[in-house]
Formats: sequence, C-alpha cells, structure tokens
Amino acid sequence: MCGICGIVGHKPASPIAFEALRRLEYRGYDSAGIATLTASGDIERRRAAGKLDNLERVLKEHPLHGTTAIGHTRWATHGAPTENNAHPHEAGRVAIVHNGIIENFAALKEELESKGRVFRTETDSETVAHLVDDYLEQGLPPREAAFAAIKRLEGAYAIAMIFKDHEGLLLGARHGAPLAVGYGDGEMFLGSDSIALAPMARKMTYLEDGDWCELTTDNVRIFDMTGAEISRPVQDLTFMAGQVGKDGYRHYMEKELHEHPVAIGQTLKRITDPASKRITLPAMPFDPAQVPRVTITACGSAYYAGMVGRYWLESLARIPVEIDVASEMRYREPPQPDKGVALLISQSGETADTLGVLRSLKKAGQSIVSVLNVEHSTIGRESDLVLGMDAGPEISVASTKAFTAQLSVLAALAIEFARARGTMDQAREERLTASLLDLPSRAAEVFTRTKDIQAMAAVVAQARDVLYLGRGICTPIAFEGALKLKEISYIHAEAYAAGELKHGPISLIDQTVPVVAIAPSTILFDKTLSNLQEAKARGGRILVFTDAAGAKRLEGVAEQIVIMPDVDAFVAPILYAIPVQMLAYEVALLKGTDVDQPRNLAKSVTVE
Ligand code: F6R
Repeated sequence: MCGICGIVGHKPASPIAFEALRRLEYRGYDSAGIATLTASGDIERRRAAGKLDNLERVLKEHPLHGTTAIGHTRWATHGAPTENNAHPHEAGRVAIVHNGIIENFAALKEELESKGRVFRTETDSETVAHLVDDYLEQGLPPREAAFAAIKRLEGAYAIAMIFKDHEGLLLGARHGAPLAVGYGDGEMFLGSDSIALAPMARKMTYLEDGDWCELTTDNVRIFDMTGAEISRPVQDLTFMAGQVGKDGYRHYMEKELHEHPVAIGQTLKRITDPASKRITLPAMPFDPAQVPRVTITACGSAYYAGMVGRYWLESLARIPVEIDVASEMRYREPPQPDKGVALLISQSGETADTLGVLRSLKKAGQSIVSVLNVEHSTIGRESDLVLGMDAGPEISVASTKAFTAQLSVLAALAIEFARARGTMDQAREERLTASLLDLPSRAAEVFTRTKDIQAMAAVVAQARDVLYLGRGICTPIAFEGALKLKEISYIHAEAYAAGELKHGPISLIDQTVPVVAIAPSTILFDKTLSNLQEAKARGGRILVFTDAAGAKRLEGVAEQIVIMPDVDAFVAPILYAIPVQMLAYEVALLKGTDVDQPRNLAKSVTVE
C-alpha cells in the first residue's frame, strides 16, 4: 500500500521516477506525485488525484527538471484521495514521500502548529515534512535533521526525502513498511520493492526496520536507529529486469493467469526430486514428528490457501491445525503449545496483520515457518524457516499464480510432515508427489477450456449475486472464487461449504442467482450433486467445474460445465483454482472493470 521511489543521478530524474511509479502502481492508485530539485536548487512538485495517467498528463504540460527526485503512488489512509493530499509533501526546505501510518501525528502536529507552522493537507504524512523542516530551521544539516525527526516518529513508515539546495542528496528511512536501496552506475535509487528497482538498478539492499540511509550519486550509507553506520547484504537484481512487462497480454492478471503452470513448475522444482518422486524441502529447525500443533495464519487468498493446507496437514500428517485470518488471530491470544509451529502464508511477505501474528507467535515460543513469494521480505527475514515459492513478480492486485504456488508448497509440506510422522508410506508419497509433478502439464491444459469458461462468464456477468459452493478440500476454492469475483467484477458473491446450503443460503436461490460449484468427482461428489439438485429444484442456474466422470452425472442438473483434466483428488484444489480465477477475469472483462487495479484496493497491505 503506497509505493515510493527516489533517484539521485545525472540524468533527468522525473521520467525515471514516473516509470518506477508505473511499476509500483499496484500498491495504490488513489493519487500520485513527483518532486524534483531544479537547477537553482528549489523543490518543484507535480501531483494529481487518481491514477498515474492523470499525473502523466500533468507532467506533459508542466515537465519537471532536475536529476534528484522522489515519487509516490498513494493508497489513501488519512485524508481523502485529492490532489491536495497527494504526496510529495513539502514544508520549507524539504519534500517527503511516505508509505505507512504515523500514529503520533496528532501530537506532533499540535506541537508544530504551536510553533506557527501551517498544515495544508489532511494527511499524517505532512507532519514528517514539517518536523524535518523544523530541525533544519534550528540549524541542523539535512542528515541530522532527518535523523532527529525519524527518532520521534511512531507507527509504520517508509520515507524518502529531498532537500532544497542539496542536489544529489536523497535520504530514506524504514520502520514497518518496506524500503530498498538500488545501486546503479553514478546513480542510486530508493524503492518500495525490487519490482520498482529492477530495471534501473544492478544490485539492491533491503533496509531493516529502524534503518535509515543517505544516498548520493556515487555512495550509499546505511545507519541503524542509534545513528551507527552499518552494512546490509547486497543482492543481484539483473535476473528480475525482464520479468515486469505485460508480454503482449491485455492485463497483468491475464499474463499471471497464464503463468500458473510455470509458477507451479518452478516452485516444485525447488522442493521435489523428480527421479525419486520425493519431496526435498529444506531442513526444518524443529522435529516435525514432535510438533503438537500447527497454527496457520494469513489474509485473503493466502488464507484460503491455508485452509487447503489445513486439510492436507490433518488428513495426511494427522497433525492438529488451528487456523484464522491474521487480523483475528492477532488479537485472539489463543494458548500456544510447547514446540508448536506457526505457519504464515503471504505472497508479498509484507502484510501488516500477518507480520503482527508472526511477532506475537514468536513471543509465544512458536517456530516460525513462512510460505512466501518475496523471500527477502520482512516476514521472510523474521522467520525461522522460509519456504519460498517461485511464482515470479505478481503485479495484478488480485492474486493468481501466487495462490497455486502457495498450495504447491503446502502440499509438499504436508507430505514432508506425513513422512516424518510415519503417517504415509513411501508408495503413497511417491504417488502424491507424482501427481504434484504432473500438475504443470494439467494446468497448461486448463487454458484449452477458455471458451467454456467464457460461456459461463456470460451467465455470471448478468447476475447481481452469485453463490459459490465446494466441499471438503475444494471448499476453500469456492471462497477463492467468490473473493476474486467480488474483487475484480464488483459482483456480490458468497461462498459456502455445499452442506451448509440447507442451513440458510438456499433461500437466496432463484433464476437470478447462479450457483457455481467446484466439484471434482471425489468421494464427496455425490453429496455435492444432491446439494446442486436441491438448488436446481429452486430454479437455480447451476454452473459446475468438474471432470469427465462428474460431467456425466451432472447431465440434466447443470446448465454449464467446464470439464477439467483428470487429476488425483489430492491436487484437485490446486488445479481447480485456475479456472475459478479465470472465470472472475472473464466476467470482469465483460463488465469492463479495471482488472489489474480494482477500485479501493491495493496490493501488499502494509497497514492494519
Ligand atoms: C486477493 C488478494 C488478497 C491477498 C491478501 C494477502 O486476490 O490478492 O486477498 O491474498 O491481501 O496478501 P499477501 O499474500 O501478500 O500477504
């Protein structure tokens, strides 16, 4: 949420900042802005409400000059998404961009106002600019003024600052919101993530919480909260540079949907041995045979992946599992067992609630295992064990390929636990692993069903409300389908375990409410079939994802069927997630919504 960038170099910085903001726009698109230092050392800003295209128009009419710049794309927290509230914020001698929430902004603002300072926006962020400027006014040089101000901030922040009359100087600070330094030749960068930095920097360093930094065209200095200079690991970035375009697809979401087979395949490559058909996860910092309970926590789609993980861990490894969304788990304070394991799932590795749970469960003595797409994220750095996926950058706000990659890791983890706990023999492990390894090919086959999914989308797109049903391990896929539909098409959707239909939601059903069922022909198929017959009897329009055997049984019940490739029931939730997400995408196309950047949302939710 909110993307920030900064540049010090020798080339015009505004176009570079703008391109970085394009890559960060998925983090928020309520407003955007850039500030540069002019040749005479003054700060100049251009800002616009709404998406970056609006800022682009402003910049075309009134270009910014200078080789030092900061930029921001906003997901509004404090203050309406207006041009006036857009970053960068300027106060006297400094301009800043900020991602996060300054919790003590009211007290700081009161103090600064009592000194005669006039605030021009409704944001918490403007306080930072005034605070730094106040220290500058007291005679401190930029670095000292910034440090003095940072020490007084409470809450979460990633901040970049430029200073009047200090061309070639960029300061950054991080606490609770991500910020990374990018290294170029004679130019240095700040960015919220590696996606922003990849095309312009060769190497990068993730700052840690409490770090702040000083960038000049040929040097980077990093300091900790005490002001002591420190060094942080530097990573290569060149491998990412080519991964952030749309590659001819209409949307990032379309591209990322098509990347499911590769995301699953690359992820499995790291954690399986195809020759022996065995799982090869990294060594665990605890004995899986002795773990009394696993506590799974995540948000949104990642939480639904966790729900599937619970089925696998319980049924294959016979291990008790506790699961909740992170925003609830964080404040529930459930008792934690000795030697328990906390399993956190996150694409970005920066989600504030998931990170909050990590910290509280760590305090409660749990071993922390995380399943992440961005391994060097904050959650990754604070985990005891990171199980990385290899889904590649996910830019579309709605999660797609990261979901199936998460499921692939969770399936492997369940097998590993089952082996260690003696609940699975080798023959079964080989069979299940083989079914996982077969998934990339089966996933690629799903795209041959696009026409059928489009036909289903034509029905769903006319509806105001849609019911999604699943059973057993496919129930979370119904939840994923409903979430994705709501998120990108703005059609109201509810998901239920099919057995719950008769306990309430069946009263919603009539000809206007399509019922979408995720129903591979597993041992629970007959039960789902009965539920669908009940829905059909009430006039419901039944749309089903099933396999060839299921399709035969659904004749006369389902109005439309997408016939999926046959797979082992074990991996069905992974495969069936793909057409369910494709359905939401096709509906969104028909509705003409902004698929990659749906209203009110942002990726990487770094505030509570
Ligand atoms: C849904 C979606 C969100 C995320 C959730 C968690 O399409 O993208 O529900 O899954 O915000 O984000 P991460 O996985 O980054 O923690």
